[in-house]
Amino acid sequence: MMVLRILFSLLVAFIQYLVIAARTNQDDFTAILSLKNTWENVPPSWVGDDPCENRWEGIGCINSRVVSITLSSINLSGQLSSDIEELAELQTLDLSYNKGLTGPLPPSIGKMKKLSNLILVGCGFSGQIPSSIGSLQDLVFLSLNSNSFIGGIPPSIGLLSKLHWLDLADNRLSGTIPVSKGNTPGLDMLVKTKHFHFGKNQLSGEIPPQLFSSDMTLIHLLLENNSLTGNIPSTLGLVQSLEVVRLDKNSLNGSVPPNLNNLTSVQELFLANNKLTGPLPNLTGMTSLNYVDLSNNSFAVSDVPPWFSTLQSLTSLIMEETQIQGQLPVSMFSPLQLQTVVLKNNKINGTLNIGSSHSDQLQLIDLRNNLIDAFTQRAGYSVQIVLADNPICFEERTEKYCSIPQPSNTSYSTPPENCTPYTCSSDQISSPTCKCANPYTGTIFFRAPSFSNLGNSSIFASLQKKLVLTFQSNNLPVDSVSLSNPTKNLDDYLVLNLQVFPSGQHYFNRTAISGIGFVLSNQTFKPPRGFGPFYFIGENYGYFADWATGSSKSSSAIIIGAAVGGSILFLLLLIAGVYAFRQKRRAEVASKKNDPFGSWDPNTNSGGVPQLKGARFFSFEELKKYTNNFSEVNDVGSGGYGKVYRGTLSNGQLVAIKRAQQGSMQGGLEFKTEIELLSRVHHKNVVSLVGFCFEQGEQMLVYEYIANGTLKDSLSGRSGIRLDWMRRLRIALGAARGLQYLHDLANPPIIHRDIKSTNILLDERLNAKVADFGLSKLMGEPEKGHVTTQVKGTMGYLDPEYYMTQQLTEKSDVYGFGVLLLELLTARNPIEKGKYIVREVKLAMDKTKEMYNLQQIIDPVIASSTAARSLEKFVDLALKCVEESGVNRPPMSEVVKEIESIMELAGLNPNAESASTSASYEGENKGSDNPYANESLFAYSGAYLPSRLEPK
Ligand SMILES: *[C@@H]1O[C@H](CO)[C@@H](O)[C@H](O)[C@H]1NC(C)=O
Ligand SMILES: *[C@@H]1O[C@H](CO)[C@@H](O)[C@H](O)[C@H]1NC(C)=O
Ligand SMILES: *[C@@H]1O[C@H](CO)[C@@H](O)[C@H](O)[C@H]1NC(C)=O
Ligand SMILES: *[C@@H]1O[C@H](CO)[C@@H](O)[C@H](O)[C@H]1NC(C)=O
Ligand SMILES: *[C@@H]1O[C@H](CO)[C@@H](O)[C@H](O)[C@H]1NC(C)=O
Repeated sequence: MMVLRILFSLLVAFIQYLVIAARTNQDDFTAILSLKNTWENVPPSWVGDDPCENRWEGIGCINSRVVSITLSSINLSGQLSSDIEELAELQTLDLSYNKGLTGPLPPSIGKMKKLSNLILVGCGFSGQIPSSIGSLQDLVFLSLNSNSFIGGIPPSIGLLSKLHWLDLADNRLSGTIPVSKGNTPGLDMLVKTKHFHFGKNQLSGEIPPQLFSSDMTLIHLLLENNSLTGNIPSTLGLVQSLEVVRLDKNSLNGSVPPNLNNLTSVQELFLANNKLTGPLPNLTGMTSLNYVDLSNNSFAVSDVPPWFSTLQSLTSLIMEETQIQGQLPVSMFSPLQLQTVVLKNNKINGTLNIGSSHSDQLQLIDLRNNLIDAFTQRAGYSVQIVLADNPICFEERTEKYCSIPQPSNTSYSTPPENCTPYTCSSDQISSPTCKCANPYTGTIFFRAPSFSNLGNSSIFASLQKKLVLTFQSNNLPVDSVSLSNPTKNLDDYLVLNLQVFPSGQHYFNRTAISGIGFVLSNQTFKPPRGFGPFYFIGENYGYFADWATGSSKSSSAIIIGAAVGGSILFLLLLIAGVYAFRQKRRAEVASKKNDPFGSWDPNTNSGGVPQLKGARFFSFEELKKYTNNFSEVNDVGSGGYGKVYRGTLSNGQLVAIKRAQQGSMQGGLEFKTEIELLSRVHHKNVVSLVGFCFEQGEQMLVYEYIANGTLKDSLSGRSGIRLDWMRRLRIALGAARGLQYLHDLANPPIIHRDIKSTNILLDERLNAKVADFGLSKLMGEPEKGHVTTQVKGTMGYLDPEYYMTQQLTEKSDVYGFGVLLLELLTARNPIEKGKYIVREVKLAMDKTKEMYNLQQIIDPVIASSTAARSLEKFVDLALKCVEESGVNRPPMSEVVKEIESIMELAGLNPNAESASTSASYEGENKGSDNPYANESLFAYSGAYLPSRLEPK
């Protein structure tokens, strides 16, 4: 008895000691402890008895009070304990992206009077949203989207007079939208709220007219994908602040209230997929409209509305099945930002004329199933036009515009920043800065973007830059961000994959993950203009340093204690086993280094080894045979690296074989890596690798043989091929497309570094092919940061910015390409008799004169025959490419588009296959007939020469 009493008082003293020692407020500690005990996977740092003092991850304190809990994407699971109410000073609760958090929100949540941010995006909460939420008078930000909440929207939310953001989307909410009545509050009272995001629920009944008033400051009204019925209330037209209105995918009927036309700030208007009747709405007054979708309603038959031509900011006009009749005016294609026009299933008739001055952003005009019987076709229009199921296609089925296009897959992905992506181990990924790491990943959904062209990579590049900037300015350890795979989903949201890469380490800790999650969940991140409202769903991050031991509450200590005794023997055995295993691995790795191709079977007939797309293995004996024992006759070039031989394969194919000489060879693994990279490059405007030989101490690369040699030879007249203006434009286009492929589509992307006329080869049809790409940009060792690139390239083509900063970007290639364009124009060397072509053109140029007054400089071969306007635009483009500063130069994708439009100006179809030109050569091909005499063609094999690599 006595003993017990002493023990008890000792215990009490001990607890008191704890309480006094602890800095964290006792109530707060109790609440956090309760959370800890109901959750799995709480951070391992949640030990001890003083969350504030001991800096428990995800818990923010001011003095001794807990003011924030931010724990996103860390795989928390369990329910939200009602003890959370004890956190009387809590201002921010963000538990987003923990799908394992389930069960209802406890009504006691209404007791946290200081709460200003309640963010539970993408969890598994269910049940009704408690009405007590209306007592959170300080609430500014309420995001409950993407959970499984049911029942109605609590009318009490109308009491949250400070509410700025209300996102209840993507739940299973039902019932009507509550408005105030007598003593019952309603959402009409939320005059300060900017965002009503209620899409993807099961809300029903009418949209109450009372909901809207001229006092409101709402900018985003998102009610899409519900079961709303009745009319669109005319009070909507009173909310002058509106910028995005989505009412699509409901069952709204009646006619569209005419005063919607008053909403001059609305940029995105979606009324599609309802049962709207009456006349087509007059949108003439909605002058800010970018994106309009009114498809699939029951409007009365109507003539083409005048606003088709007057709305100057339209990017996207989507009106399928809206009963429009009559002929489309040519003026409707002139708005400068127009990208997409979809008017399927209407009664449009007469002639389609898109004019010549339409926007160069115009991408798609889909008019299938109308009554069009003629099309004023201009040579080589670049817009995709779909006229299938129109009378015009009943006979002329073979026309391109009569086929139904495949959905275009624009596979954008953030390119590496001047570096070579690394092949990373297992779950790691190479970042845009080419470091292997475990990124935090998730999906961003943009609910109403203002654009429809997903092929414009610059818009995603600006989004990516802004993300990095926002993370970094919020002191998060973020190195880089990658965006990929933009698509439109069935909800008409723009969906993008996001990867966030850590800086400093290979992985993030929980503090960083929750910080990144919060930047996205509470909208600290503001996307660039045009993306509109977004939400993010993060995936669980599973790469914390302690993940294996990160289990939360189980009494692991006891388990360990009990296990220790029996484990020692086991551990010793294990260590021995691991040691033996590692020795074996080491031996394997060592032997692989000696023969990197050991795992490849050179004898497969399938065209090579699996890692090589298309390139095959040649034995030394084979190549010896194909080159007639490397005979002099077949020796077509040489340099410090070795020699180039022409060969004929047994199937008759001509190849050029580059044979490294002793002392120029690289290590076997490097050689293998390079072959793997080069073999992935496949484009009709890029010289491709046919195969390789790595045998008997030899390293050889086998390329396709390009018949007509270098562009330089043709321009100088040496090859005997006459290049008229038309051919030059085609060559420019081909080279630009090849280069764009290397920049944007090759995997990994490649910066050429040495664009010049001797590196553009012409095949028998005078198709341009880019050679000599890659160089040492394929050879970086990302783990050690950037290879300090010693400036490479050729004088005259060298980007001055790169020269000065040694920072290599795609834009350096664009510079070289600009010089190449001037070379095409003048047939002069970039530097001739001490004069620099860029400077000479700029000096001589006078934009007020015909052909910019450049007659004296232009190659006489083209000077007479050339359409002045296309030549001027060509000069404009060339000079844009050689802008001083890289950021002012266009990306190759734009260069390609510009050349295409120049070709159209000159009356050429950029997509037509070039006709065989051999018949029209002037004289026979009398030149050196030896395109490979030129060292540079195979200089890129030089990439595998040690001398090409800078010492670190
Ligand atoms: C809004 O539209 C109505 C009718 O269409 C018009 O009478 C009214 O003047 C407009 N209000 C504003 C503010 O433009
Ligand atoms: C459409 O609205 C504009 C004002 O925004 C007005 O000038 C025009 O008359 C209207 N057209 C019709 C047919 O009502
Ligand atoms: C196109 O349709 C309109 C309205 O139905 C009709 O008035 C017009 O004559 C038609 N035009 C042609 C070229 O068929
Ligand atoms: C988490 O990472 C950040 C930045 O890398 C660091 O400042 C912080 O101390 C880390 N937190 C813990 C608990 O390790
Ligand atoms: C996000 O949270 C921070 C900190 O609570 C707050 O200052 C900021 O205003 C919030 N962002 C928005 C858009 O509410």
